[in-house]
Amino acid sequence: MDWGMKNRMSRIFKPETGRTVMLAIDHGYFLGPTGGLEEPAKTVEPLLPHADSLMLTRGVLRRCIPSSFSIPIVLRSSGGTSILTELSNEGLTVDMEDALRVNASAVTLSIFVGEEGERTTLLNLAKLVDAGEKYGVPVLAVTAVGKNMTRDARYLGLACRICAELGAHMVKTYYCEGFEEVVRNTPVPIVIAGGKKIEERAALELAYNAVNDGACGVDMGRNVFQSDCPEGMIRAIRAVVQDGASVDDAFGIYRDAKG
Ligand code: R5P
Repeated sequence: MDWGMKNRMSRIFKPETGRTVMLAIDHGYFLGPTGGLEEPAKTVEPLLPHADSLMLTRGVLRRCIPSSFSIPIVLRSSGGTSILTELSNEGLTVDMEDALRVNASAVTLSIFVGEEGERTTLLNLAKLVDAGEKYGVPVLAVTAVGKNMTRDARYLGLACRICAELGAHMVKTYYCEGFEEVVRNTPVPIVIAGGKKIEERAALELAYNAVNDGACGVDMGRNVFQSDCPEGMIRAIRAVVQDGASVDDAFGIYRDAKG
């Protein structure tokens, strides 16, 4: 890894801990209007002091997020499908030059192992890695978005390992039973998605179990911005990921913030 690539990775994964709290707000690229993201700047502004990076599309970045915000950007660079069609047929949607123009610290795309778009999206990953290596921009590969697949250790381990083999610099996946085995077989940092909104304590347990089983952090969206206290929730998640807090202590942070 050259200097630029390492520097960008260290903007995302805090060098003191090797972990990250990534806030995901890119859902609209295939879901359209998403509860909590009607006015993205209003949603994220109070949350950013507690996040290490922000994952979003270039449209929302350019139109809704003030350029004075100094948070490292993980730029969603795949899409072209929606929940109304075959989601897995994604293409690349952002040129690396434009990612550099918006000062992205990383780019991200989804891959769909075992689905119709498997070949296309894995080749998309290879292309994005080539461009990333050329300019020193790390690539985050997102696995297992969609409804059809079984999110167990066998499937997630397969998808994550393929991403790493194709050159992804980090992988996003889901927490599952046997997650340590997924981590052991994936020679790049793994972050976990939160998935659909669940009860706050359960979401904190998910983050706690994931980092204790080897995840290098979280890339969570709906369990933060759809919470009844988004700021309390991201502070609580941060306490778990970056400060090693217990679930009880983290839940206390959320509850106190909620008042
Ligand atoms: C899905 O492709 C998107 O990248 C989301 O950012 C991702 O699913 C994480 O968000 P959530 O925690 O809401 O699942």
